[in-house]
Amino acid sequence: MTTGEAFSITVLAIDDDPACREVISDALSRDGFKVLSARDSSEGLQLVQQEHPQIVLLDWMMPGGKGGALLEGILEADSGTEVILMVHPTATESAVAAIQNGASEYLTKPLEVDRLWRMVDGLAAEARQRHRTLQLDRELLDSYQFEGIVGRSPLMLEVYSRIRRVAPHFRTVLVTGTTGTGKELVARALHKRSPYAAGPFVVCNCSAVVETIFESELFGYVKGAFTGATQDKIGYFEYAQGGTLLLDEIGEMPLTTQAKLLRVLQSQEIQRVGSPTVRKTDVRVIASTNRDLRAMMATGQFREDLYYRLSMVEIHLPLLAERKEDVPLLQRYFVEHFAGQYKKPIRGITRRAQALLARYPWPGNVRELENVLGNACMMVEGKVIDISDLPEHMRYSLSELISAEEKWVSLEEFELRYALQVLEHTDGNKVRAAEVLGISRATLYRLIGQKVNGQKVIDGKVQPSLPKQ
Ligand SMILES: Nc1ncnc2c1ncn2[C@@H]1O[C@H](COP(=O)(O)OP(=O)(O)OP(=O)(O)O)[C@@H](O)[C@H]1O
Ligand SMILES: [Mg+2]
Repeated sequence: MTTGEAFSITVLAIDDDPACREVISDALSRDGFKVLSARDSSEGLQLVQQEHPQIVLLDWMMPGGKGGALLEGILEADSGTEVILMVHPTATESAVAAIQNGASEYLTKPLEVDRLWRMVDGLAAEARQRHRTLQLDRELLDSYQFEGIVGRSPLMLEVYSRIRRVAPHFRTVLVTGTTGTGKELVARALHKRSPYAAGPFVVCNCSAVVETIFESELFGYVKGAFTGATQDKIGYFEYAQGGTLLLDEIGEMPLTTQAKLLRVLQSQEIQRVGSPTVRKTDVRVIASTNRDLRAMMATGQFREDLYYRLSMVEIHLPLLAERKEDVPLLQRYFVEHFAGQYKKPIRGITRRAQALLARYPWPGNVRELENVLGNACMMVEGKVIDISDLPEHMRYSLSELISAEEKWVSLEEFELRYALQVLEHTDGNKVRAAEVLGISRATLYRLIGQKVNGQKVIDGKVQPSLPKQ
């Protein structure tokens, strides 16, 4: 798509009066508008659905008083349509009410050709401008997306370059990064760019597997292997045969399973639980985690040999806070995505709301940004997202989180305090707080289990108490 591409404006006139339709057609056709006309509501609505006119001129006094229902129908079919009502001079009050319900303007009848033309021309200019802005945004987005990953910061370009280099050859990769930084997206990109892209991409969420059945989930089992094993069952490895297996949250894998996994990675062979038969596997394994595996290794929670095997090739994802220059691009991407999903004509974000998004520390990373903008797009009533559409907790100034007499704190401690503040805001509701922060409940629990100023946090409260915030 090129920005210079001509963008023609279609105008639809809905009026039972043929003379009025003719006036409109004569006034506008000469100026390069495509003019359509309809005699009644059903014909009008049908044309709206088929032709998607940018501007509709609607007779507000249609026989049977159907103007209101038709306005609703038009905006439902395409809420971006600009509707100009044509009203009798005595009915302007009801037209004003209709404007509150989504109509853009009104003209009194009989139509003054000059006014009609100026109004349509003005709305057309706005529609063209919107179209151009959208196209530019789209082009910018197209050039800074890599397999669905959005970002053009040097840190992300480095990630793309690693994916490109690793994808054709890898057998195992470790993808690390805090929650919401895009680890799963990277895993999918690695698969898509690998020679096995046509094979399956299977995700095993290690934190959701019950410890006692981990092995059988990964490698399958045969009938009679244990009580309840009434038939043979294949595991994740066999599902992923010829493709890629993502072991998500590998840090949650029990030590005994870690040992078995290492053996499989080395031998490329699996054995279903209860079976003596050894099967060859052809599976690429991507392990991902938001935990510090090195620290877990030091405390004996993660096997050293498995860690070294996995970390031979590692792709680390930066925090969103480390690549703030990507925020505007991601912002555009998500607004476009959600505007489409909710079928709303959202044009963008006000400057002050953008400034707030730029200042915010994003502890939940891209997922939090995605949630915030998803909510804003769902709630926004007009066409532009403003500060009032953003969550209340984002509007606090950061200085409130750290009192003036204190020294600066580490990012880790800052995250913790911030999480506590959100928790306070949700009246201690952890499910809601995790949602707001865009992190999993498990991550929130881990976060609030840390220490603030050397004092233990118990159930979200610092013991004895947090400095006044
Ligand atoms: N660079 C990006 N561009 C577009 N969307 C992104 C990007 N990074 C993350 N997302 C989106 O943010 C959400 C979280 O991403 P993802 O699930 O990959 O994170 P994660 O690192 O696996 O998080 P967790 O550790 O919590 O599982 C997803 O909806 C994803 O599509
Ligand atoms: Mg994930």
